[in-house]
Amino acid sequence: MRFTLREVEAAARERLDPVHYDYFAGGAGDEVTLRANEAAFERLALLPHVLRGTAKPELGVTLLGGRASMPVLIAPTAFHRLADPEGERATARAAAAAETIMMVSMASTVAVGDVAAAAPGARLWFQLFIQPDMAFTEALVRRAEAAGCGALVVTADSPVFGTRGRDERNGFRDLPDGLCCENMRDGDRVREIAFSPAVSWEHLDRLREITSLPVVLKGVLHPADARAALDHGVSALFVSNHGGRQLDTAPAAVDALPEIVDAVGGAVPVLLDGGVRRGTDVLKALALGADAVAVGRPVVWGLAADGERGARRVLGLLRAEVEEALTLCGLASVRDLEPGMVRRPW
Ligand code: FNR
Repeated sequence: MRFTLREVEAAARERLDPVHYDYFAGGAGDEVTLRANEAAFERLALLPHVLRGTAKPELGVTLLGGRASMPVLIAPTAFHRLADPEGERATARAAAAAETIMMVSMASTVAVGDVAAAAPGARLWFQLFIQPDMAFTEALVRRAEAAGCGALVVTADSPVFGTRGRDERNGFRDLPDGLCCENMRDGDRVREIAFSPAVSWEHLDRLREITSLPVVLKGVLHPADARAALDHGVSALFVSNHGGRQLDTAPAAVDALPEIVDAVGGAVPVLLDGGVRRGTDVLKALALGADAVAVGRPVVWGLAADGERGARRVLGLLRAEVEEALTLCGLASVRDLEPGMVRRPW
């Protein structure tokens, strides 16, 4: 039995090909942002209340019209079949069992329609890198709609694919034979995902014209961009530095959160990912104004350690930790968290 997310990671590391472990674990540049994501949570202190006379706390949240049984979602990560033969199918079943939302990566190794078919009842959102070829972007959107996805998570922090030193040194470039980005099938070929600096707010506007799905904008760190995103009609903002895999030395996600929350002023929900490894991290992000958080690597570690069961274990550990931390903070609900409960020791 594994009792912490760190133990799950250790188990995953033992089972994974070291090159694939590095692909999942690594970050861009000197991995300053990668380390900062977790360190920033550790530097924050939680200030509990006492004698509140509460009952078992309520963990559920409603996001974009859908309910999640806890404020912990699954961030979009690529290539789950490198971690487990069932890949994203197993992840989606774990998400369904936990009654939480899974964001299916555009770079998934199971097509989004097959992910949905494998996990009836799973709440899926589809993550999209807008392709400069808008006709193909539209084809992807139609696949996500047909699969029943409830939102599009548009990742905006990747005008180029960040250089990750571990992958360069390991020579990791392509998926092994037999695996591919299944969503990128186009007739009898599989397209490469295009990362383009030419993608702009105009593309986002066009995307909103071709679909009625709500758009979650992922990778926003600058408050001015959060305000612009509201002007362009996004339905939610997702504070993220891509788990430290894109611009190195970008701020830790939780450090960037308060300014974004301020800029948004409650107009739309705010999500956060990056470095969430404990229930107390979830409480800190929610206290600082996030409506929910997401975890990327921990779910991959669960999958690699023990397939669907491992992913379920990760979500179960986080749920139990959130519940205990809320109780210890004297709170009846995740909604009762507020900024005064988080202290910076400086
Ligand atoms: C990612 N991330 C990511 N994001 C995205 O929008 N599309 C993607 O395909 C991927 N792929 C991906 C692969 C791997 C291996 C990792 C680790 C991350 C970023 C992901 O959604 C999320 O922002 C981070 O993983 C959050 O940080 P933690 O929870 O891993 O610390």
